[in-house]
Amino acid sequence: MVVAAKNVLKDNILGAFTKPAPTLYPHQWNWDAGFIALGYARSDFRQACSEMTALFRGQWKNGMLPQIVFSVENVGKYFPGYRFWDTNGVPGKPRNVRTSGISMPPVHGFILNCLLQLAPETKTYRPFFRRMFDRISLLHQYYYQYRDPAGEGLAFICHPWESGMDNLPTWEEVFNTIRFDDSEVPFYERQDLEHVDALYRPRKLSYDRYIYLVNLLRQQRYREPEIWENYPFQVQEPMFNAILSHSNEALIELGEWLRCDTGRFREWQAQTNRAMNNKLWSESKGTYVSYDRVQRRQIPITTAGGLIPLLCGAPDKTRAARMINLLESPSFRGTPAQPAWMCASTALDEPGFDPRRYWRGPVWINMNWLLFHGLHRYGCHTIAERLRADSLELVRQYGFWEYFNPWKNLPEDETNGGYGSNQFSWTAALTLDWLGM
Ligand code: SER
Repeated sequence: MVVAAKNVLKDNILGAFTKPAPTLYPHQWNWDAGFIALGYARSDFRQACSEMTALFRGQWKNGMLPQIVFSVENVGKYFPGYRFWDTNGVPGKPRNVRTSGISMPPVHGFILNCLLQLAPETKTYRPFFRRMFDRISLLHQYYYQYRDPAGEGLAFICHPWESGMDNLPTWEEVFNTIRFDDSEVPFYERQDLEHVDALYRPRKLSYDRYIYLVNLLRQQRYREPEIWENYPFQVQEPMFNAILSHSNEALIELGEWLRCDTGRFREWQAQTNRAMNNKLWSESKGTYVSYDRVQRRQIPITTAGGLIPLLCGAPDKTRAARMINLLESPSFRGTPAQPAWMCASTALDEPGFDPRRYWRGPVWINMNWLLFHGLHRYGCHTIAERLRADSLELVRQYGFWEYFNPWKNLPEDETNGGYGSNQFSWTAALTLDWLGM
């Protein structure tokens, strides 16, 4: 498994960075780069650093770290490409780097801290850590300055793609409140369906809406903060904020090591955890849920993302116990007759659940990895280890797929429970991390 995982990374490498997948994703993606860096940390530390450095080349002057940094070699092989995003000439975008115009979950703080723990020796790499520390601080500054207009401590996402969990039923609830005409969706041609069967990917209706939002952003030239005054998709999502909070914690540790002031990271972290508890906790569901800032309401849908606040220490003991109960309930474990692998991206009993479609139910290895660390933090070592074991078993049975069917017993006519792209980089990278290789 170790050799095979290393080969996935080797086959997907494009010089300074590694693409997430051979054909479906032929550029560099934001949070993928973080997980991929971890996959190299023990065997090729220089490449791990290179992944991070390459990604931050795309950072905008206001701190925004783009979701995609496009590779010039693969022009025309992905939609929406650089042309469609139309970020060329937007003030503050680095002129010589091609990027999209939205961001993704800020895993980079805690990934950098993991890299520090795994560095072969820290003296040589100190300038790298210092540079990254400054870049990541600027990224966090961006979220608190531009994505938290009310100063609550919660950053909002402006597009499902920013959540990293593109196709959750949660976003449907938001989209259903946005009125627009078909003529407001510009002409586009999907390329993902050339690589993956439509059954496993977002539906056309969802794609139209993704493109509608991209069009709003590009028409207004990504002008922040003005653009947000009248913008329909603004969601405070628990995983995104938990990742931001956990990265703040990491910046405190890194800052102490670098002998830098860490005051603002402490304030941000405390404020974000407090706000998550005040605004994103659902007492009836026993987990965290997203909040629609525009409609001013919680979106009552249970997802794996809602459990990730365990990672940053947000829930107190009582809340954590309720979350563990939920994780152990039929919503995520299935039933004796129909057992499930941990952990479905959308809960098994949600009406929008679909075991095959992108983010509507399949298991993702990066979600399991985040949850694994959250569970250990709360002393739930046995469940954490089961998550790890399930993840490794899925990879062993099916291969390094992008996502997996959560049901342990597949229908008789289905032999492969792995979907999306095969040879998926973060599946390989996190497998290596779990195996300590
Ligand atoms: N994951 C998105 C896609 O499906 C982009 O970030 O293309």
